[in-house]
Amino acid sequence: MCPRIHLTPRLAMVAAMVPEEAKLADIGTDHAYLPAALVEAGRISDAIAADLRSGPLDRARQTVLEQGLEGEIELRLCDGLSGIGPQEVDTVVIAGMGGETIAAILEAAPWTREQNTRLILQPMSSMDDLRRWLAANGYAIEREDLAREGETLYTAWSVRAGEMSPLTPGQIVAGMNTPHPLRGAWLDLWMGKVQRAREGLERSSREAAAGRKQELKELYEELVSMKKEWEQWQ
Ligand SMILES: C[S@@+](CC[C@H](N)C(=O)[O-])C[C@H]1O[C@@H](n2cnc3c(N)ncnc32)[C@H](O)[C@@H]1O
Repeated sequence: MCPRIHLTPRLAMVAAMVPEEAKLADIGTDHAYLPAALVEAGRISDAIAADLRSGPLDRARQTVLEQGLEGEIELRLCDGLSGIGPQEVDTVVIAGMGGETIAAILEAAPWTREQNTRLILQPMSSMDDLRRWLAANGYAIEREDLAREGETLYTAWSVRAGEMSPLTPGQIVAGMNTPHPLRGAWLDLWMGKVQRAREGLERSSREAAAGRKQELKELYEELVSMKKEWEQWQ
């Protein structure tokens, strides 16, 4: 048998959000590293590992066989949650996908809100769109975390059915301010993105750009004040 699965910081952050003894489905599992590591650590007894494509699911099968987890991890080929019954899970992980794909998967599975399933979401892009979608569709982000792999920062959110208090533009892009040690670098990342968008717009003389320039200026200022608040907490 192979050595136990070692998770990278991004997936370790996601794994840490999974409650002990969760009835877990990992959607878009690819290698099935996350459920395999959680079972091996004794945090959960079994899991469903699902993927849209057969190539990733074959990789998941290889992990399951190599780790001797045939009795613990069940593989499913399906789009999002379409092949998972609401009664089978209380926790769903959707990690390593764009925010729009995550929103589309949840849109097609309203039972996750109706039965208050715990969702652990790790968007790679379009985080603002995903936050807006969650707020508009009866979900609340209860906790956010950050992890670094090399030069890259990642976020993961623990989400339940509920009402989210209205978010400011800065909170929509960068999340709630916290004293997290990586929060300063996360805010720097967003300030850089907003600054580059502002510079792009500076070259545009179109009248319509004026409103957007003002929005980006205010967003940048809010991110700067979040960074100052974070510095005071350090
Ligand atoms: C980048 S991998 C992420 C793997 C793993 N979850 C992680 O975070 O390391 C994205 C995986 O999501 C799968 N995927 C994309 N859209 C999907 C969908 N609608 N339903 C299920 N799986 C999907 C892809 O086939 C791919 O295996």
